[in-house]
Amino acid sequence: MTPMTLPLSLQEKMDALMVGHKAAHLRQAREDLTQAYHGDKTPHMEGLEVRLSYLATRMPATFAVARDVLAQVPRLEEKVGTLLDLGAGPGTVLWALESLIPLESAILVEQDAGLVRLCEALREGEATPHTVLSQDVLKDTPWQDADLVTMSYVWGELEGKNRLDFLEKAFAHARHALVLIEPGTPRHTAGLLEAREHLIKIGAHITAPCPHALACPVKTPDWCHFSAFVPRSALHRQVKNVSQSYELEKYNYLIVTREALEAHKDARLVRAPLKRSGHVVCDVCTNAGTLARWTYTKKDKDAYHAARKKEWGETITPPAIANPL
Ligand SMILES: C[S@@+](CC[C@H](N)C(=O)[O-])C[C@H]1O[C@@H](n2cnc3c(N)ncnc32)[C@H](O)[C@@H]1O
Repeated sequence: MTPMTLPLSLQEKMDALMVGHKAAHLRQAREDLTQAYHGDKTPHMEGLEVRLSYLATRMPATFAVARDVLAQVPRLEEKVGTLLDLGAGPGTVLWALESLIPLESAILVEQDAGLVRLCEALREGEATPHTVLSQDVLKDTPWQDADLVTMSYVWGELEGKNRLDFLEKAFAHARHALVLIEPGTPRHTAGLLEAREHLIKIGAHITAPCPHALACPVKTPDWCHFSAFVPRSALHRQVKNVSQSYELEKYNYLIVTREALEAHKDARLVRAPLKRSGHVVCDVCTNAGTLARWTYTKKDKDAYHAARKKEWGETITPPAIANPL
């Protein structure tokens, strides 16, 4: 996947919002938020500096992941003109989607009034008409349907609540596709599998990452997840107190559609391919719902050269001879 920095206008507005806030305070706020995310309870972003630290250090990662995932929504340009983003935070998904396609309009739903204000501040002067609703998504509020409904880094925060009812409601609002994005941890992947099972039950069609709607073949202690390359801005490095110019963000996701699309022909790379001299070894999840290790050699030149360009998380066509894992 191509490394993706934040859109310039977003980065400039973020930098402007940080003026007057000491880097040391933002750093402390970030540490408090990180600890809260590692704790048992769903964290709430209390205070402006905590929210700003989220903007500086988490929004680049969630943006990069959201962009990689949204690019995989089938027929994105043809089918998606409107967005409903649930648990929108500072509006990350809208920024990511706009970096891929032009949009007619967007509705963002977020419970935290402070984040709603920041989201609005970041959106000032941007082209896509949008509404930010300050609401709890679990409450019985009607929304307008949208071509694409998204929940980015939200599903895990709803654990222990009536989230399957909410999931059904979210899917009911999606004219074309529903996308869930989560951190790439075993716990969040288990949560995504619960959502996947329920969505299949109510008639959704699995588009990605699984090339099938069968049981997940990845067994503990392993778990399915992917990795995004996140370039770090000067602000990001300063608030994190790090010097490296990038980070790798582990994530997992689910894309389902309302209509059945073409059958899956390709497999998904579930690890980074091993690129050796003369051959490439690929661990994949196949459309038969199995894990397989496929080797591409120079005997099949086209497939071999295609495999050399592939990365973890991409789809790949089977080689002429496939070996089970
Ligand atoms: C980790 S942040 C992710 C924000 C954004 N989607 C992103 O990808 O950057 C989770 C967001 O979900 C919001 N959220 C959690 N539960 C919610 C609920 N019941 N109703 C509305 N928003 C909720 C939180 O307030 C927070 O802004």
